[in-house]
Amino acid sequence: MKGIFITMEGPDGSGKTTQIKKLEEYLTEKGYDVIITREPGGTKISEAIRGVILNRDFSEMDPVTEMLLYASARAQLVAEVIGPAIESGKAVISDRFVDSSVVYQGIARGLGIENVYSVNSHAIREFMPDVTFLLDLPAEEGIKRKKNQKELDRMELESLEFHKNVAEGYRKLAALDTKRIKVIDATLPIDEIYGMIKSGVEQFLG
Ligand code: TYD
Repeated sequence: MKGIFITMEGPDGSGKTTQIKKLEEYLTEKGYDVIITREPGGTKISEAIRGVILNRDFSEMDPVTEMLLYASARAQLVAEVIGPAIESGKAVISDRFVDSSVVYQGIARGLGIENVYSVNSHAIREFMPDVTFLLDLPAEEGIKRKKNQKELDRMELESLEFHKNVAEGYRKLAALDTKRIKVIDATLPIDEIYGMIKSGVEQFLG
């Protein structure tokens, strides 16, 4: 079996976790060994970096520092988990990947799409996702959902303006790569969203 790499993207609170669980069941039924990862995180080192990135006390963090920390967490995750899994024919579903950096750091923080790709090329090597689902949600709705669930982290505490740039940035990025990135309206009922994800994966698997 050839490995498959699927990523789930979208603004904070767009419901990625729920859909990942459903997709995991589907791919398992199809006979895949499924690995689920999340970014930033997914290895001991990457989770430690996550603790630094999302710490609410580090409000002075420079955008370049932020971009490099996300890329470092990613490099370790690719080296330790994603790369070996894909190479041994497994299915990897990642909650966020390089598109998050392109949108949050490249577009919303203004560091530039090309700069973010160039820094991240060291981290991701040849492991670009086969299929990416963008759960598209208005910024206000995402933050409202998050606030009801937990204490907000450093990124979630950013202004509404920032989160609007994130939502808009994702749409822009998806338009640049319509073959890989499938946009789904995250305000739809859970099962309807899942139906679209399933058919997107089926389409890729042929
Ligand atoms: P997380 O708790 O995983 O958010 P969510 O549950 O919404 O997925 O926190 C990750 C935060 O980091 C989220 O606000 C998005 C942001 N982020 C970036 O800014 N750049 C990145 O490269 C990644 C992976 C995440």
